[in-house]
Amino acid sequence: MTKKNISEFKFKNISLNLSQDARSGGNVSHSSRLLSKILPKEFKGKSILDLGCGSGYMSIGPLVLGASSVLAIDVDDVSTQLQANLKLNNIPENKIKFFKSNLFDSVPPLKDKIDIIIANLPQHSLPATRKAKNLLGKYGGFDGTDIVCRGLTEGANFLKVGGQYYGAVSELTNYERTFALTKCLYNVKIKQTIQKVLRKEEMLPWLSDDELISHLELLKMGGLISYERLNGDITYRVHLVQFTLR
Ligand SMILES: C[S@@+](CC[C@H](N)C(=O)[O-])C[C@H]1O[C@@H](n2cnc3c(N)ncnc32)[C@H](O)[C@@H]1O
Repeated sequence: MTKKNISEFKFKNISLNLSQDARSGGNVSHSSRLLSKILPKEFKGKSILDLGCGSGYMSIGPLVLGASSVLAIDVDDVSTQLQANLKLNNIPENKIKFFKSNLFDSVPPLKDKIDIIIANLPQHSLPATRKAKNLLGKYGGFDGTDIVCRGLTEGANFLKVGGQYYGAVSELTNYERTFALTKCLYNVKIKQTIQKVLRKEEMLPWLSDDELISHLELLKMGGLISYERLNGDITYRVHLVQFTLR
């Protein structure tokens, strides 16, 4: 690893050194950094499950702040990068257990349930075509809720009663479905709402902006998603949410 691909990231009141990977899932996303702001101030003795761990920002931050252990899951094999990042931040290897898994599909039942799940999962609403599904780390299903709702409903099986699941819910997805579904399992508290602008050419070369916008217009006309168009830009809200298991 060269010094060049190591960057410093703020997590709560500490700084983490993380190696960067050119793949889409390898970098710390802006939304992850925002999500970190609603996490508890300290993690002393807590067990953490980092769902969609990427380069380990949400795993290593809690470990530095006192978490007892982390179960890190990603659909990509990020184990080498995770190990390198643990080393960079002086965390012993045995504090983290990595599973390459599509959500919880390859995770065995746990002896002890988890205190806190942190998940920043893909949630782009896209046409249900093979082409769109190839957008690794972005495809969230036709209405954007496929992965987020699976994470929340399946995650409940791994969480202690009273345990917390922290995640983002975008209004560019069928967010009312996500909230309706999760209210059966969790007490839902929106901790912060942020305004975002849809990036131009975000889905190229798989999907043009025209194809993406006509899909979003279809969902908006159907009353499933909410956004504004300001000077040609699509602006939308993202809720940063604490779900507490009942
Ligand atoms: C927005 S990135 C967040 C990465 C990391 N948590 C961070 O804070 O920087 C989303 C991550 O979710 C992973 N992912 C996407 N779909 C997944 C799935 N079905 N199961 C597990 N991980 C998934 C991606 O590979 C990617 O690493």
